[in-house]
Amino acid sequence: MTPLLDNSHLQRFARIRDRFPGAKTGPYLDVSARGLLYDGAREALDAYLDRNAAGTLDKGAMFAGVEKTRALFASLVRAEPDEIAFTRNVTDGIATFGASLPWQSGDNVVVCESLEHPANIFPWYGLSRRLGITVKTVGHRNGHIPLDGILAQIDDATRVVAVSAVSFAPGFRFPVAELGAECRRRGVLLIVDGAQSIGVLDTDVKALNVDALAASTQKSLMGLYGMGFLYVRKEVAEALAPVFLSRFGVDLEGQHEASAGDAAASYKLAQGARRFDVGNYNYPAILAVGASLELLLELGSKEVEAFVCGLARDFANGMVDAGLSVFGGRPGPLGTHIVTVGKSLGFDHDSAADKDMSDLYAFLTANGVRLGIRRDLLRFSFHIYNNQADILRVLDLVRQWTAARSRSVA
Ligand SMILES: Cc1ncc(COP(=O)(O)O)c(C=O)c1O
Repeated sequence: MTPLLDNSHLQRFARIRDRFPGAKTGPYLDVSARGLLYDGAREALDAYLDRNAAGTLDKGAMFAGVEKTRALFASLVRAEPDEIAFTRNVTDGIATFGASLPWQSGDNVVVCESLEHPANIFPWYGLSRRLGITVKTVGHRNGHIPLDGILAQIDDATRVVAVSAVSFAPGFRFPVAELGAECRRRGVLLIVDGAQSIGVLDTDVKALNVDALAASTQKSLMGLYGMGFLYVRKEVAEALAPVFLSRFGVDLEGQHEASAGDAAASYKLAQGARRFDVGNYNYPAILAVGASLELLLELGSKEVEAFVCGLARDFANGMVDAGLSVFGGRPGPLGTHIVTVGKSLGFDHDSAADKDMSDLYAFLTANGVRLGIRRDLLRFSFHIYNNQADILRVLDLVRQWTAARSRSVA
């Protein structure tokens, strides 16, 4: 048990498992693709749909729900509500931020292309073609984004560094605080892809010196696809003009949302990151993730991180003991909720080029385990609804598979 978690915390985690129907049907270890829907989120969605069907939706209440969810997400990452915009996904958040910056031809952005998700690659190449900026890329080191490599690439023309806090595979944690301090000192903006970290890792955007952070809601935030958040530090946001201007991106000064006022003559941008909001919101998805955010905040983000990463650590150690190649070996104190298994980082997703790993994947899925394959590695990812029984079940299956394989080789 980690020092942060006493028995009462563990009992709370045990109780909330009952509120995830998908947790009862076998080990669900695939939050890195998408999380299980929590029944509180389902109730919020159902209530919205019932009102929609009955013709009783109330726009004022819907706006109140939007502001409530904005404030909940802000408190999860320790920001102000004015620093949060609603987006469709991580790509949208990164692209919105990137396209709203005052680039000059010859400026550059630094990324570790070989480990980043396409969500944090294509937006920069799009800007490169359109505006003549350069994408400077840094190679990975044994599955880690190298902090020293990133720092070495920053030069006088670097405007932005874009990095994921946790990679989608092999799922290692990046030292965001160290990079944040250095970027701030050098006057370079830091944007973080929080797809894999937000909802599991305790995150304080101010302490990390992060200027912008993009998240989507279908993974550890236990919401729906097609919905995301963009944090932009207020001082940075207020120096930017949004790439799309919308009625929710301007200060309506108390006017009805359908009123454009005298837009041609003048308009005032909304405060902070609110200027990046575009048109009507995805109300049902916002209400659903609002319920999940309440649950995460009730549990406490430090406790969530300790519990979930603790499960992943126990699992990784069990896999090593069972003779499997956990990528990176036994996890250290900075392990995450993601454990990948396989010999080398490749390029295949959804099927592994390594025959052993493909066989093991087929065996586990046939026995009701839900997991993923990314970059040729089996990917097991944990969240608040998992428990030790899930770990024991998978380890038991792995031992059965290993024994059957040694019999067939003998
Ligand atoms: C690191 C990372 N970034 C981004 C995404 C998703 O990007 P988007 O929300 O734009 O689909 C994922 C997973 O789907 C991811 O693992």
